[in-house]
Amino acid sequence: MTVAFETIIDGVLNDGYGIADNFITQSEVTALADQLHQRRDSGKFKAAGIGNEHVSVENAVRGDEILWLDEATTTPVEIAFLSRINEFVAYVNQTCYLGLRDFEFHYALYSPGTFYKRHLDRFRSDSRRKLSIVCYLNTNWQEADGGQLALYLPGATGDQEQQIIISPVGGRLVCFESGLLEHEVLPATHERLSVTGWLKTA
Ligand code: OGA
Ligand code: MN
Repeated sequence: MTVAFETIIDGVLNDGYGIADNFITQSEVTALADQLHQRRDSGKFKAAGIGNEHVSVENAVRGDEILWLDEATTTPVEIAFLSRINEFVAYVNQTCYLGLRDFEFHYALYSPGTFYKRHLDRFRSDSRRKLSIVCYLNTNWQEADGGQLALYLPGATGDQEQQIIISPVGGRLVCFESGLLEHEVLPATHERLSVTGWLKTA
């Protein structure tokens, strides 16, 4: 796993974003997707909002439904995922001194026709979010399913920004600095699943 951790962090430091395929196994992808569906079927998901002081639901901005993972309700597959994240946090703290202390993760479900317009993840009033992490849970994702992640990398002085398109294939993890990198989720034509979270300072 440390190889994946190194790949992710090297990517963040050198390119502005890091990717690791098979960060979780295909059986973990299926188990987490099943768990997500089970929790959604029991009515636990809520339309995601924007902002952190006055949260409002704006479907023209983002159309996903989310459920926060909380320690009280985690099942073995969620615990396995979060403990891998814990190891990643320890690795990052040893190698980059970001002073990460905490993390928060939610499931996200995009129904066909939904998207999340270009944005930054860090709230104006709360700068504790240092790294954004998205881990996809889509088995057999196809190009026609849409829902790609678009990253907007600022160009060097005078250069145009660069758009990077990432397919949300199951098991893939993407990481970038929450306060720096603008990004968007392109419209999905097929249900799109992920676990998304933030590694935070104290
Ligand atoms: C987010 C987000 C990206 C993705 O939830 O803030 O930008 O690919 N997600 O799901
Ligand atoms: Mn985001």
